[in-house]
Amino acid sequence: MANNGEKKQTVLSTLPKDLPLDFLRTSTEQFAKERIIGTGAFGTVYMGTMPDGQTIAVKKLAENAPLPRDRAFTNEVQNIMALQHDNIVKLVGYCHEGQKKVVLNNGRYIVADVYESLLCYEYLAMGSLQKNLFEGHSNMPWHTRFTIIKGICNGLLFLHRIPIIHMDLKPENILLDHNMMPKIADFGLSRLFGQEQMFMYPMLQFSIRILCSTNVPTGDTLQMFMYIF
Ligand SMILES: Nc1ncnc2c1ncn2[C@@H]1O[C@H](COP(=O)(O)OP(=O)(O)O)[C@@H](O)[C@H]1O
Ligand SMILES: [Mg+2]
Repeated sequence: MANNGEKKQTVLSTLPKDLPLDFLRTSTEQFAKERIIGTGAFGTVYMGTMPDGQTIAVKKLAENAPLPRDRAFTNEVQNIMALQHDNIVKLVGYCHEGQKKVVLNNGRYIVADVYESLLCYEYLAMGSLQKNLFEGHSNMPWHTRFTIIKGICNGLLFLHRIPIIHMDLKPENILLDHNMMPKIADFGLSRLFGQEQMFMYPMLQFSIRILCSTNVPTGDTLQMFMYIF
């Protein structure tokens, strides 16, 4: 809905690009330490510079993440690929590329396929809500806080209508643009619910049924319940 920041989606205009690993290496100066803008449980985020000077954020997924790297990559790409909303971070590119490398294993050299998984997002200049609220001096005015709360709610409502459940909403995963507009980020743990997923998560289906059989829920209450669950 336009009044909630939702934008009309056309597949071709929204699809992120498959970018070569070498291109992302160059744009982050070989993943230089000085280019790190954040870290989380799933990986390290670098500032990347495009040939036209535009800045992007490049998340290099770590191997020792709470979820297998392939799963986190698939979750993020599939779940936010075609989403267009003012309060959802935009995925602009991705890369999943393997290279053959010779490694020493138990005293023998073997050829191994080493994969890198990377996700590229629009760069959000003000960083995370966590940083803005709790690090340094925070004297964020009340009206800015209120606008941020409203933006997060709009983003969540948009997701829940699909329905995508984020599963990891916290200040580190809310990013702010230069106008302090909030964007929900980090969909590594998110779940897209459909017929198949309902089958896979019978407890969730069960809980919704129970809730529906009472006279409590309106549409939004139901969505809120699904999120908490
Ligand atoms: N698009 C972005 N623009 C600016 N900073 C970002 C961006 N994406 C991530 N960051 C920074 O990196 C941190 C970790 O990013 P996140 O996507 O949450 O990674 P993880 O999945 O490892 O938790 C964020 O808290 C934020 O500080
Ligand atoms: Mg995170």
